[in-house]
Amino acid sequence: MSLQFSYTTGPKTQRKENDIVLLKQKRGKDPAPILSKPLRPGSLIATEKGRGSIAADDILGKRARDIVRNTKGIEFRILEPSLGEYTDLSPRLVTPIYSQDTSLIVSLLDLHPSNPGADNRGGHDKLEIFEAGTGHGALTLNLARAVHGANTPAPPIPQIKSEYENADAELEANAAQGIYHNWRGNRRAIIHTLDQSALYSKHAQKVVKDYRQGMYFPNVDFHVGSIGNFLSQRPETPSLDHAILDLPNTDHYLEIVGKALKSNGALITWCPSITQIIKCINLVKESHLPLLLVRVIEVGAGFSGGREWDVRLVKPRALSKAKSQVTESGPDEEEPPSVEELSVFVNTPAQNEGWEMICRPKVGMRIVGGGFIALWRKMEQDFEPVMDEESPADLLSSSDES
Ligand SMILES: C[S@@+](CC[C@H](N)C(=O)[O-])C[C@H]1O[C@@H](n2cnc3c(N)ncnc32)[C@H](O)[C@@H]1O
Repeated sequence: MSLQFSYTTGPKTQRKENDIVLLKQKRGKDPAPILSKPLRPGSLIATEKGRGSIAADDILGKRARDIVRNTKGIEFRILEPSLGEYTDLSPRLVTPIYSQDTSLIVSLLDLHPSNPGADNRGGHDKLEIFEAGTGHGALTLNLARAVHGANTPAPPIPQIKSEYENADAELEANAAQGIYHNWRGNRRAIIHTLDQSALYSKHAQKVVKDYRQGMYFPNVDFHVGSIGNFLSQRPETPSLDHAILDLPNTDHYLEIVGKALKSNGALITWCPSITQIIKCINLVKESHLPLLLVRVIEVGAGFSGGREWDVRLVKPRALSKAKSQVTESGPDEEEPPSVEELSVFVNTPAQNEGWEMICRPKVGMRIVGGGFIALWRKMEQDFEPVMDEESPADLLSSSDES
């Protein structure tokens, strides 16, 4: 029995049992491609409501790009789904982060996992990334792929059965479990993903396990429960390299997750509205949390790669100087858009202490819907989260950046 996990792909690779394929109609108005279930002998893949099906047996043994016909004679091309196509199209119980946004989040983490055997991470520390909530598992799968090269090849994932045909089969299964368990204990990179819902977590496990025969599954530890509980069972000294929060009331978890982050670790928060990012900024200021807000990026339909926002607290004195500077600019000069035109001034608790919130897109004039990704970085404990006073020049020039 081979102890090495393998998923092969290439022009000559034939589709085998449990592979997932993307079926794209060869001609016609190009309806959305169909993502199959894991291919099982004897099963059928419905191609459109009431419009035929394709037998999995007709796909098994075929290569990517081959053509297959459904029961109505319509031709489909067999393709291998990319990770993005898979997470966007796989059946879901909750809304995932869509593929263009997961790519952005992973690139913001700027991961550089070293290969096993390379001693360039300063003593082979484990790379540990924490994610809450797991949801559909879309971001989990992207993170698991990003760290994959840091781990040695995984042994086969053992099947857990309640009954075995004979004692030898049971012994073999136990041995396989032992090998897998041992391998997991020696991983150099782990994605910890947590959801409060056992149902969503179970579904996400299937999503991750079904992709490319479970290729990235061994890099992930799935947890069910509360963030507080999970973190309280970890070492007291900060041990997480990075963390990502995609769940309601993100601000409730900034302190506890920030504490578990190693110095200079990245924390990414995904919020559906800018006001939630503002809540986080206020909390960081009020509670003196050692988190530096590095970037705020609006994502959603119509933005390629996201649109950067300028979100920060400033003293009103600097703000009014900036406003008057805009009004004084001469008629011949190309006038920069005024701070009022570009900005949303939001009432915040920090206003009582003499602060105002600047909150505006760095490019463009309109504020439209979509989600917001904020990238924070863990600072030293004595870090002062906001600057006392912004110079008016900085205030204006920052809207021209990027
Ligand atoms: C929008 S989904 C996350 C989607 C996920 N990022 C993805 O890419 O597929 C939000 C998840 O957060 C979970 N959740 C909500 N509140 C939570 C909490 N307090 N602790 C842990 N998980 C929570 C929900 O059960 C849900 O599955």
